[in-house]
Amino acid sequence: MLISLGPQAFLSPVPVMLVGTYDSEGRPNIMASAWGGLCSSQPPCLAVSVRRSAWTYRALKERQAFTVSLPAREQAGMADFIGLVSGRDEDKFAALGLTAAAGEHVDAPYVAECPVVLELLLRHALELGSHTQFVGEIMDVKVRKDCLTPDGLPDPARVGGLHYAPLLNEYYGTGDFVARAFAVGKTVKRQN
Ligand SMILES: Cc1cc2nc3c(=O)[nH]c(=O)nc-3n(C[C@H](O)[C@H](O)[C@H](O)COP(=O)(O)O)c2cc1C
Repeated sequence: MLISLGPQAFLSPVPVMLVGTYDSEGRPNIMASAWGGLCSSQPPCLAVSVRRSAWTYRALKERQAFTVSLPAREQAGMADFIGLVSGRDEDKFAALGLTAAAGEHVDAPYVAECPVVLELLLRHALELGSHTQFVGEIMDVKVRKDCLTPDGLPDPARVGGLHYAPLLNEYYGTGDFVARAFAVGKTVKRQN
């Protein structure tokens, strides 16, 4: 039996994304965003949704560029701090002893200590209500060498392992292999 929880902003799991921007004075800033995800393959695009009250909002509009750093599950404390404190009040990179590395392809900083980094150019901004959805085109994906599989692909057991559980306000780690995509469905026996 399914129990209705009503209309809620819910999906699970959702990755914790750290959105990096330079503010109007060129100071690097980073915020936590769990509302968003991949939204196009060609061109490769990812969306993040940001409240107008965030310091990041203005920076996104001004610079038209951002990065997304994906924290490891061990970096939950760091990610939560980044989601609790505003760059309007404090330099979060300095407070956390993090390195604000300059994007190679876009005018935005990223967290050098994170295992995965995406660099994006802002392509669309869609007003949705509480949040504005910013769609960025992915210009580069960087993965720490020890987080790659022997084939040179991002290893799910080691990258992007930190997820946020909406409604519960808790963090979870994931990364267990289940099955191969676009393959396991072919072994399913039709019931009709
Ligand atoms: C796990 C987590 C997820 C969050 N997701 C979002 C989000 O998707 N959009 C948003 O506007 N704020 C989100 N926040 C809140 C912002 O990260 C927070 O307001 C932050 O202080 C904004 O930073 P800034 O003012 O430096 O831009 C989230 C916070 C946490 C802890």
